[in-house]
Amino acid sequence: MNEIWTEKYRPRLLKDMRGQENVVSRLSAFITEGSLPHLLLAGPAGSGKTTASLCIARELYGGRWHSNFLELNASNERGIDTIRVKVKDFAKTMPMGTRFKVIYLDEADALTQDAQHALRRTMEKYSETTRFILACNYMSKIIPPIQSRCAVFRFSPLSRDETKAFLKDIAIKENVDAEDSAYDAILDIAEGDMRRAVNVLQTASILKKKVTEKTVNEVAGGADPAAVKMMLQNAVSGDYKKAREALLDLILKQGFQAEDIMKEVYRQIHSLDIPDERKLILMEKAGEYEFRLTEGSNPRIQLEAMLASFAISRKL
Ligand SMILES: Nc1ncnc2c1ncn2[C@@H]1O[C@H](COP(=O)(O)OP(=O)(O)O)[C@@H](O)[C@H]1O
Ligand SMILES: [Mg+2]
Repeated sequence: MNEIWTEKYRPRLLKDMRGQENVVSRLSAFITEGSLPHLLLAGPAGSGKTTASLCIARELYGGRWHSNFLELNASNERGIDTIRVKVKDFAKTMPMGTRFKVIYLDEADALTQDAQHALRRTMEKYSETTRFILACNYMSKIIPPIQSRCAVFRFSPLSRDETKAFLKDIAIKENVDAEDSAYDAILDIAEGDMRRAVNVLQTASILKKKVTEKTVNEVAGGADPAAVKMMLQNAVSGDYKKAREALLDLILKQGFQAEDIMKEVYRQIHSLDIPDERKLILMEKAGEYEFRLTEGSNPRIQLEAMLASFAISRKL
């Protein structure tokens, strides 16, 4: 019951992963051949890098995968020296019933250049009995000598359809009743990060029996989209007074942070019923006020000023 869904529904086999078709078919070929080069997996958070690595271990080693797989995180370990010690300890016992063991190093791009050179030497030193799977967000932060020693795989953010289908499957299994607009809200928030999408769905469903757009936004800390849209609609139609009331309601009564309101403003500008040219003007203005907010100006004054400028832009 209290299981974390991202673990409970993490695919166990490569073929069960969503999206990443290209990556999955190339990785599956290694399994079929029973050989594995070093791998470099690059892509955003929650796109399946760790999942794919765990699948590889399971498919290579079956029930014995635990003893043949070591997971390390470059930003948790205290520098390359602790990584080297752990790799050494792991690599010195012979692999159980296979030719090599697998070491998964997450956030490899957190290592300095020097540390990466040391890592490369370690990879070479133990190449007889180990294969490295390095995961990173940005390929460009990995030194070329490591890149050239690895088969490179690029993971994309999951598409809206892929994410939604995954969420719906979970919802059926967990008896979650969610409105269609709730899924859309989750997809907006997750931006292709499957972990975040699943987490928001789980948290929202704990909070409310029926998951709505509003619950989702409460859980994710974003401002209520419908309220923000109304506020903007009032501003662009020139009713500054009403727009300001809505703003104060969001800040004072509902307790939203200016940053969260701002994020929602960006999303909602696109959905306003105004010509595209005017949307561009609003986007540009919003950008200006967003900058002032991050510079530490009084958030309430800045947001009020932004609404005023939206109202005035009608006459431009
Ligand atoms: N391609 C995918 N298919 C299915 N589920 C996925 C996929 N990518 C991520 N997930 C889900 O999101 C969670 C986080 O994925 P993970 O592989 O740890 O991402 P990362 O790329 O950050 O390593 C997993 O537990 C899994 O439930
Ligand atoms: Mg990961």
